[in-house]
Amino acid sequence: MKKLISFIIICTLGLSLSAQDPAGPPPQAGGQQMKQTPDIFIPLETNNTSLIFRVNNRDGRLYQSWLGPKPGSIDNLRQTRDAGHSAYATFGTDNLFEPAIRATHNDGNPSLELKYINHEVENIRPDVTLTRIFLKDPQYPFVVTLFIKTFISEDVIEQWTEIKHDEKKPVTIFNYASSMLHFDAEKYWLTQFHGDWAEEMKLQESWLTAGIKILDTKLGTRAHMYQTPVFMLSLNEKSDENNGEVIAGTLGWSGNFRFLFEIDEKGSLRVISGINPFASEYSLEPGKVFKTPSMIFTYSAKGKGQASRNLHRWAIKYGVLDGTGSRLTLLNNWEATGFSFDEKKLTGILDDTKKLGLDVFLLDDGWFANKYPRNNDRAGLGDWQENKSKLPNGLGYLVKEAGNKGVKFGIWIEPEMVNPKSELYETHPDWILKLPNRPEHYYRNQLVLDLTNPKVQEFVYNVVDGMLAANPGIAFIKWDCNRMMTNAYSVYLKDKQSHLYVDYVNSLYSVLDRLRQKYPHLPIMLCSGGGGRVDYGALKYFTEFWASDNTDALERIYIQWGYSHFFPAISVCNHVTSWGKQSLKFRTDVAMMGKMGYDIEVEKMTENELKFSQNAIADYNRIKEIIYTGDLYRLVSPYDENRAVLMYVNDSGSRAVLFGYTLNVRYGETFNRVKLQGLDRGKTYKVQEINVSDEGRRGPGMGPGMSESGRSYTGEYLMNVGLNIGSATPLTSVVYELTE
Ligand code: DGJ
Repeated sequence: MKKLISFIIICTLGLSLSAQDPAGPPPQAGGQQMKQTPDIFIPLETNNTSLIFRVNNRDGRLYQSWLGPKPGSIDNLRQTRDAGHSAYATFGTDNLFEPAIRATHNDGNPSLELKYINHEVENIRPDVTLTRIFLKDPQYPFVVTLFIKTFISEDVIEQWTEIKHDEKKPVTIFNYASSMLHFDAEKYWLTQFHGDWAEEMKLQESWLTAGIKILDTKLGTRAHMYQTPVFMLSLNEKSDENNGEVIAGTLGWSGNFRFLFEIDEKGSLRVISGINPFASEYSLEPGKVFKTPSMIFTYSAKGKGQASRNLHRWAIKYGVLDGTGSRLTLLNNWEATGFSFDEKKLTGILDDTKKLGLDVFLLDDGWFANKYPRNNDRAGLGDWQENKSKLPNGLGYLVKEAGNKGVKFGIWIEPEMVNPKSELYETHPDWILKLPNRPEHYYRNQLVLDLTNPKVQEFVYNVVDGMLAANPGIAFIKWDCNRMMTNAYSVYLKDKQSHLYVDYVNSLYSVLDRLRQKYPHLPIMLCSGGGGRVDYGALKYFTEFWASDNTDALERIYIQWGYSHFFPAISVCNHVTSWGKQSLKFRTDVAMMGKMGYDIEVEKMTENELKFSQNAIADYNRIKEIIYTGDLYRLVSPYDENRAVLMYVNDSGSRAVLFGYTLNVRYGETFNRVKLQGLDRGKTYKVQEINVSDEGRRGPGMGPGMSESGRSYTGEYLMNVGLNIGSATPLTSVVYELTE
């Protein structure tokens, strides 16, 4: 039952407006000012962070009074004047900078004024609190509710907004941020994660200067490809893994997003996060609620490492579907076979799945369509019937065969898309997003279905539900989305074309909601031409995501390193493939730092390689719990040195796994010892090397005799003195299991 722990109602005071918050310290004794009710403070707290709002009783507006480490008592805040930053700045009255919200009322008045009405605080779990702050335009029946959820133990805050009005006609909203945060620091350093197909999550840090910096996308169907909906912001000084003040933020929205960073004339920074307002003005009907996606952020006073650990802990509990559960290891056939396979070949791969010791075989693209068979990416998308020549006995046969062999069966789909060469295109041209009077524009030879149309939603739902109903043994799905929107126009939306970007994503969520009601725990991998749709809006429906189509183990280290800043290892799928030229050991060690899987031609493996992989998979099953739910410590960044080192430590500090990769070696280069982190100083750990292989081991000078394997050290020693990690040979690696 909902338990309201406090509920405060304050009447709006219709006082004059001013550009600056007129609040100052409370009137001094003997001063001339009239006695008045004090400002209301709304403190939102986690274990180590406070976000504090203040209602100024002179103008009735809401301000952000503080964001950062806990300031102690509110009374101290009362005595000092905060900078008077509007908590949710509007457009049209006196705000001179970027607004959080902009609306034109039904009578044409383009201004919005928001005054505090009341707020309520609800304990929704013992360590999760939800605060609603109600704001209203004094002249119009237009209400904005700020929602702030605090995850107390994880030090994470989630914020979103609801907009509603009862005006006579629709109101157009142009900007509708999820959150607006303010900072007053000497300097601001922004870390962004940008990229492209097969180059996801490249980390870049820059100093923010006066004016506006925007990170955004306009891709429509996916959050990113060029820019991921995440950022880290360091205050005052550049932060590193262990030092400095950092905000790490991410928007839970699988479409166009925008983070706007604006430094004003006084050096204050406002960060406005939400759906990208670009070409997306929304006509809001009276009585309807416009709900923004969630902005999720954490504050760390101990550098980027702690910020990531906060987000990971939050994500496994609340952000990723079944984040505290386990995961299936899988053998995928995409890189091994592409589109060329038949039933016999697949039956052989089922055997390989078992032989390697993996849980599930995942059949990728190319299994469907008959009139226009899906033998390449130019045809068949949209026609979700088994291809009779490749699979004469249907999916059912493969599901059954998998069961007979003691493995599970999974399948790839891309239900939001269509090839022009398909029966779906021929039958339902009006279900496809395409501009009238313009040529169709293809990306990977395909078009996007118009999910805003309820009939298309029904179709997409039935593609999945129909397949699962016919084959209840299907144990895993990979849901792909291989293109963005271009030349897009929705027949269904008629004169509301500017709703397309927003409605598409909400329609996708409603299909996923419906599917999740019926199949709450079916593991589904989120994929979008690699990692083009990785965000916490989608991840509440997905158990994991495909991080990139780039499986070259060297390049992959950087990609996985990038994701690790915001997403927990349990959600990041890494496959051992034949793409890279590194040794099998190196490729295995790289895949192991997250959710390991395979996409490799098993029949081409040597005896040694097979044995190595079988052992690696067995070892992985023993240690994966530590990787999935342990605390991550990034020890040496591949951006700083010719090696990358990271480790995971379990909750009790009794077990850990360390990964060390030598990337390149210059002549005569030596590496410093690496001090471990997160261990219990008083405990003694046995250091055991796993994934030991003769082939491509760790290179000369680091033969078996030099390994730390089999030695025992105290936590104190490991953290103060450290281990030698790195070798004289490029592209070599080591994995240590540490056990108390
Ligand atoms: C893009 C994905 O990222 C790949 O893993 C693969 O599933 C292909 N699509 C199939 O078309």
